[in-house]
This record gives sequence, C-alpha cells and structure tokens, in this order.
Amino acid sequence: DLIIVNTCAVREHAVSRALSRIDALSTLKQKNASLRIGVTGCIPQQLKAKLLNDRPFIDFLLGPDNLHLITMCASMKNGMFLDTSNTSPYSAIAPVRGRSAEAFVAVMRGCDNFCSYCIVPYVRGKERSRKLSQITSEVTQLSEQGYTRIVLLGQNVNNYHDHGRGLPHLLSVISKVKGIQRIGFLTSHPAYFPLETIDRMKHEPKIEKYLHLPLQAGSSKILHLMQRHYSPEDYLKLIETIRKSIPDIALSTDIIVGFPGETDDDFAQTMDMVKRIEFDFAYMFRYSPRKHTFANTLLDAVPEKLKKIRLQELIQLQTAITRRKSKAYNGRILEVLALERNSKNLLETNTISVYNKRVIVKGTLETGTTSRVRISEVKGWTPIGIPL
Ligand code: 5AD
Ligand code: SF4
Repeated sequence: DLIIVNTCAVREHAVSRALSRIDALSTLKQKNASLRIGVTGCIPQQLKAKLLNDRPFIDFLLGPDNLHLITMCASMKNGMFLDTSNTSPYSAIAPVRGRSAEAFVAVMRGCDNFCSYCIVPYVRGKERSRKLSQITSEVTQLSEQGYTRIVLLGQNVNNYHDHGRGLPHLLSVISKVKGIQRIGFLTSHPAYFPLETIDRMKHEPKIEKYLHLPLQAGSSKILHLMQRHYSPEDYLKLIETIRKSIPDIALSTDIIVGFPGETDDDFAQTMDMVKRIEFDFAYMFRYSPRKHTFANTLLDAVPEKLKKIRLQELIQLQTAITRRKSKAYNGRILEVLALERNSKNLLETNTISVYNKRVIVKGTLETGTTSRVRISEVKGWTPIGIPL
C-alpha cells in the first residue's frame, strides 16, 4: 500500500525516466484506494510545483535532507518536507542493508564546489561532514552485524573534516574498527586531493587501492568553463604522483562530452587524456543543461547529434581500454573479499579485489571473509578466480 520513488536530478535523462515511472503509477490508485505514493530525493527538491500541480495523485514529497521524516510522511496526505538543513539528518536513520558483506556509509552531505554544469549544490545544499564519533559507532555496529567492507561516501570526500581531523584520519580510525577488512571511499575532487591520503592508502592494507577521480574534460578551456579549478597538466601531475607512490592503483573517472563551447579540438584533448591515463573504468555522459547553473547561461551549445557521436567515440575508446586492463588480470593471484553467493550460479561467489574489481570465484566462500585466488580466465570484463 505504499510506493516510494527515490529520484536523482543530476541529468535530464534521469528526470524524464523518473517522471514517466511516476506517471505510470497513477492508475494503480484506481485499483487500490489505500495506496499512497511518495516521491523522494532531488527531483522534488528541484521540481516541487511540477509534481504538486500536475500530479495530484502524489501523496508526499521529501527532499534529500529530510529522509529521516519518511515514517511520518508515509502516513500523511499532502505531506511535504523540502528544506535543506545544516544538521546531519543521516545520523537519525539506520538503513536496512542488503545481505552482501559491503555497507555504504555517508560521511558527508552536500557540496560547495558549484562546478558550472552541476545541480547538486542547489538540491543537496551546503557541504557538511558527520561527526567522526558518529561514523565510527555506525561502522562498529555494521561490523558487529557482519559487514566487513565499508565504502565511505561523500560528494567530495577529500573535504571531510571534524575539528581539524580530515579524510586520512577518518580512514585510520575506520581501519582500526575490529572486524573491518576493507575500506573504500568516493568521490575525490582532483583539485583538492590531500596527498596524505595516498600515504595512508599505501601503508594501510585495509584501504582499497582504488580512486574515483572525475576528470570531466581534457581541455583546459573547458575545465575552466566548468569551474573545476585544475588544468589537464595538474590532473596528469596528480596521477603521476599517485602512481609513483602506488604503481598498481586502479583509477576510474567521470567524463562529460558536449559541454557548451566544446570544439573538435577540445574533444580530441579529452580523448588524448583518456588514452594517456588509461583509466580502469569510466562513467561517460552527454552534457545535460540544468536550470540555475552557470553553464546553462552559456550560448555556444553543442548540437545533440554531435554530442552523441562524441560520446560513442569516447565509449568505444574507454571500452577497449577497460577490456584490455581486465584481460591483464588473467593469471594473477589476488586477495578477494567474498560479498555474496552468485545468484546465477550458487556454486560460485561474487567477490571484490582490493582494486575494486569484481571477481567471480568458483566455489563457495564464506561471506565477509578474504581468500587468495588465482585468475584462470576473464569473461568480458570479469575475472574468474579459483581459490588457492
Ligand atoms: N550533464 C552531464 N553530466 C553531469 N554530471 C553532473 N552534472 C552533469 C550534467 N549537467 C556528471 C559529472 C559528475 C557525475 C556524477 O555526473 O560527470 O561527476
Ligand atoms: Fe557537482 Fe561533484 Fe562539482 Fe560538487 S564537486 S558541484 S557534486 S560535480
């Protein structure tokens, strides 16, 4: 009797998909008078009027900062909580998590960066960190429940702070929590990356050797228009420093093609960066204009058709790199953490390596424990391992 649609507003494609899903739900109310429909997350925050005026069948709206009010809202007619707050409401809810051995823990909220294309600062509010003590006690509880992989989440985790204690300190504290075997964190902003974090990653075996470091574009003109506060040279230098310290680190990134004013030459520079860096994986997007953002006022739009062509070209290049890097796992011996049984074959286990690479292991490993495996083949992008 209750349907909640949790939404993302980062690109228009996500918004139109969510709205069509929401509209498809309206007929269910005719069949079930007690059905209640709620919409949560960034779309209500951004499009309150559109939802309320055009879709009277929606019972409640809840913004991303008010998720803790969900039980109250679920029983109200025309409930609506869309304020952004400066407290850390995430602390008030203990999410029910899956049966896998990994748990995602939000350590901060919001973002103050205002990259010129991005709606996040407008819908998720100002950047604020949770208290170190709260995070530690949540992770301790998770460990007691059997979770052994923790992924710390924030729009910009480099900026995590609690009374002068930053991300490196947080990582050290979490790695000392009894039972925790693996710690990942994302997302890191290339302009404000604390090098001390690299040192911590190098010396603490529980911290994964993996960084998500969104490049966004490879041309200095476009990066400047995006208000990213680094040049392609700065980014390359950072990668060089990181790889010098941790040569086998795995890297992933986000890239946007077709930002206003992006010429063939600017795009060629993005392709060149992708070839030079050889990311293990990339999330790639067509630029999507967002209301309120600075980029939305720029006039020099790239035609949609050209954006699609460029995206295809980029995906083709990165797919070949990802495939080649995945194939290189063949024959390696890796330590993997067992996440859960493979639902497609119960005699196999889904695991994850310290490089954030998913590995299917032949055999049934106990969830949450680590084992050494030899990679015997690579199917598509997925290495297949045999326990040693
Ligand atoms: N258009 C396309 N991609 C975007 N992203 C953020 N805003 C936009 C936009 N307006 C991408 C960025 C970011 C990722 C989460 O989403 O690459 O890193
Ligand atoms: Fe958006 Fe990330 Fe830039 Fe923040 S740092 S404005 S979330 S792209």
